[in-house]
Amino acid sequence: MILAIESSCDDSAIAIIDRATLKIVFEAKVSQNEAHNPFGGVVPELAARLHAENLPKLLEGAKPYFSRIEAIAVANEPGLTVALAEGVVMAQALSLALKKPILPIHHIKGHLYSLFLQTKSAFPLSAAMVSGGHTLLIEAQDFSRVKQIAASLDDALGEAFDKIAKMLGLGYPGGGAIEELAQKGDPKRFDFPLPLRNDPCLAFSFSGLKNSVRLAIESLGALDDRTKADIAASFQKAAIDHLLDKTRRYVSKARPQRMGLIGGVSANKLLRDRFAALCRDYDCEPLFAPAEYCGDNAAMIARAAIDAYKLGLFCEPDRIVIRSRSAFC
Ligand code: KG4
Ligand code: ZN
Repeated sequence: MILAIESSCDDSAIAIIDRATLKIVFEAKVSQNEAHNPFGGVVPELAARLHAENLPKLLEGAKPYFSRIEAIAVANEPGLTVALAEGVVMAQALSLALKKPILPIHHIKGHLYSLFLQTKSAFPLSAAMVSGGHTLLIEAQDFSRVKQIAASLDDALGEAFDKIAKMLGLGYPGGGAIEELAQKGDPKRFDFPLPLRNDPCLAFSFSGLKNSVRLAIESLGALDDRTKADIAASFQKAAIDHLLDKTRRYVSKARPQRMGLIGGVSANKLLRDRFAALCRDYDCEPLFAPAEYCGDNAAMIARAAIDAYKLGLFCEPDRIVIRSRSAFC
């Protein structure tokens, strides 16, 4: 069994997976959303302090499995340095106490493996990674060979959802609230511009769209419920149109066999449906994680660690490097 720790942003999570059956035998998670809500975004030092409080409590539940743990996996990059450090310190302590090796896991590889929580991993694999911190297109030949194809030039998609949610007074994180409100709105009422429409480059940009929404809100004055819903629906449509415009350019050229949609925003139902339709246009198999594993969690880190274990990618406790930003190899 592998015990995994995730603390890269504002979720403290621990999971234990059985290597042979892929069964998640233990998992526990505390989301810090409420603590960060008043600030409209994640405050790194607060996140770290709450990880320091939460992780030991979560670990209590994992104790009955200690004798069967073969390795400790921990997300060590990318993420908030002070937040990652809390998980890494716990992994180091557990490694020394249980005399088991550490498997450092790239957080985004964790999201990739959220696609394989119930199945054997399948490569080559392309994916669109959409979260609060990243908007990427990636290609993976196997666990070790992962390449970034495209990234956002500014805000991440989830960050854009969160900022529009804040403008509409929906709280943090606001992606789910925007999706819900958008269901009652008219996506055609506001014609927000499609970012990088005439630019052939494979890249994303959400800051211009965010500013267009801000200007529309400012020009309208007090917003009634109908208008708020129309803004949410029109923004969501423009953001998804942009993501899929660039994704289509990639898929039509690279023609991947299978393409995953990963990260917190992949919980969005409209995005999932439209992503699946796009993949079908190119005979590409769309892959999704179970809805409850789209956001940050430790089970995906544990699942990725099974492949890292097979490859023997162990690390001495005093050798783990924490990186806030990191490229793939
Ligand atoms: O992967 P994740 O849990 O954390 C990061 O690594 O960032 O993603 C969180 C992001 C937040 O920005 C949140 O607003 C967004 O995912 N999100 C959504 C939905 N559910 C979560 N965005 C759009 N629609 C949703 N249903
Ligand atoms: Zn994440």
